[in-house]
Amino acid sequence: MKHKKIIDQVAGKVKQQLEHEGPGHDWWHVFRVWNMAQRLAKKEKVDLFVVELAALLHDVADWKFHGGDEKIGPRVARKMLLAEGVDEEVVIHVCEIISTMSFKGAKVKTKMASREGMVVQDADRLDAIGAIGIARAFAYGGHKGSLMYNPDQQPVMHKTKEEYFKGSGSSVNHFYEKLLLLKYQMNTPMAKRLANERHQFMKKYLDRFFQEWAGKV
Ligand code: ADP
Ligand code: NI
Repeated sequence: MKHKKIIDQVAGKVKQQLEHEGPGHDWWHVFRVWNMAQRLAKKEKVDLFVVELAALLHDVADWKFHGGDEKIGPRVARKMLLAEGVDEEVVIHVCEIISTMSFKGAKVKTKMASREGMVVQDADRLDAIGAIGIARAFAYGGHKGSLMYNPDQQPVMHKTKEEYFKGSGSSVNHFYEKLLLLKYQMNTPMAKRLANERHQFMKKYLDRFFQEWAGKV
């Protein structure tokens, strides 16, 4: 009961904070990740309280939008959790998850240390692929001022997170630099299954995109 109250409080605060965020990181992304994380957690032996809190807080104060300070997300999350009276042990676990889970380039490893982290990372990554993932990529690309596609520009398999975050490729290149790689990086069996389907959908979409680009269909 106490846990439910805390989750509701945190969800309310995150919603308020992200309501006016740009595309990609709006409240509804967090809402979907929260929902999917709960679904995946049912099949895993995990602490649901930790999973829900990490899902809700994983994008608060995303450092990409806050002057590049990587520590700011976990710091804001920590403050919020302590204000709700969450135990230190849980706070540490949640902050550890949110500071390690994000994608940082095709060749950069981001292995999670706990089952709870694996579930939340899977839920976040599922939201980056499939129909929603396609919409998010073009929305984010538009927000950044990237081209939708540039046939003269090859995708880059980034070796460091610095290179990855500096990248200024087209939205279609983002599929090759991240989205089409995610199905191979899922942690849990259920996410692997869902990712496979979403992956197929993206491939079909890209096939069609290139056919239309070439004026074939
Ligand atoms: P996440 O919330 O999955 O950690 P990010 O914060 O990296 O994702 O990015 C938010 C959304 O924008 C994701 O769906 C991601 O795939 C997409 N995105 C990130 N970088 C780019 C880019 N350079 N071009 C197009 N879409 C991008
Ligand atoms: Ni996210």
